[in-house]
Amino acid sequence: MDLITNLQTDKALLTATAILGLVGLMFVATKAVGFLGVLFDVFVKPGVSLTTFGAGKGAWAVITGASDGIGKEFAHQLAQKRFNILLVSRTASKLDKLAQELQQKYSIKTKTYAMDFTKGDAADYKRLAATIDTIKVGVLVNNVATNHEIPTPFAEEEERVLDGIVEVNIHATLKVTRLVLPQMTTNRTGLILNLGSFAGTVATPYLSAYSASKAFLATWSQAVGAELAPSGVVVEHINTYFVVTAMSKIRKPSFLIPLPKPYVASVLSKIGVQGGASIPYGSTPYFSHAVANWALENVFTTRFWVNYNLSLQTDIRKRALRKREREAAAKAKTQ
Ligand SMILES: NC(=O)c1ccc[n+]([C@@H]2O[C@H](COP(=O)([O-])OP(=O)(O)OC[C@H]3O[C@@H](n4cnc5c(N)ncnc54)[C@H](OP(=O)(O)O)[C@@H]3O)[C@@H](O)[C@H]2O)c1
Repeated sequence: MDLITNLQTDKALLTATAILGLVGLMFVATKAVGFLGVLFDVFVKPGVSLTTFGAGKGAWAVITGASDGIGKEFAHQLAQKRFNILLVSRTASKLDKLAQELQQKYSIKTKTYAMDFTKGDAADYKRLAATIDTIKVGVLVNNVATNHEIPTPFAEEEERVLDGIVEVNIHATLKVTRLVLPQMTTNRTGLILNLGSFAGTVATPYLSAYSASKAFLATWSQAVGAELAPSGVVVEHINTYFVVTAMSKIRKPSFLIPLPKPYVASVLSKIGVQGGASIPYGSTPYFSHAVANWALENVFTTRFWVNYNLSLQTDIRKRALRKREREAAAKAKTQ
């Protein structure tokens, strides 16, 4: 009797172990297939050609935050693909210089419009609308954004900074998009690229408003992406880790932190390819960012990554405050 009971228990144990092993194997296999899919996307799968959106056929690309960093690089590379370019940004002198450079280098047409998006000025948007109505827009790059000056606890952040983030990162994106949509839907073609951030994928303490504004962008991109797909307008949320620019305050490129040139090249060559992004209407096209995006969502918990961001930003804040103190001391000496 004991022997029979033991055999039955052993059998049950074996079956349970086999089931658990199979579940574990399926789990690992699913993760492995997902990871291989990311590698296939970033290294093999071609993106939709930009000619679909009017490259070389007289169409225009509208770029916000176009005078520096990633936006400036979009201007160069879209001009190289033979789009005419409408540059929108804050500083007129920087826009004019860039417009001249683009015309000479790529023999395309340019227009510029200088406005400070933090003002949310209705007259500015009206004038921008009038300019947009004179051109056929094939591409809109919603690139402009503003960030906290240094990582700062939410309760201590200046009202001006919080308002600026909402006005530029959210309102400007909504408003500029609504200026181009009527013609894109009528023409049944258009590409809208929204520059997202990993700060929107995993909440970033001390950059709370910026982080939340980028989470807004990710959700909004999916909603309008689905709404607009039947009308031939492609919306893509571009998830971005660090890039060497004034905003990131990083000066040297590395494996994870590219210069704007290879970063933007990856975006434009991978339209419609998800890369490391897991959300619909999303793309993480730069190879190391794609792997990092996959790791964020598949390795450890979200709480782990939020805490990781907390310790990273705490450290950055300490260094930024020390720098401010040094600068204040140096200024006091010269006075
Ligand atoms: N760099 C990164 O590591 C990183 C990471 C994740 C996501 N992103 C996203 O990528 C996008 C571009 O960032 P970036 O690093 O290239 O920034 P950037 O180098 O600081 O350039 C920002 C651009 O936006 C313009 N701008 C800023 N505030 C403005 C305002 N109030 N009104 C009008 N124009 C304004 C600037 O104009 P002026 O030249 O006149 O100042 C400049 O042309 C942003 O959406 C950012 O959130 C960047």
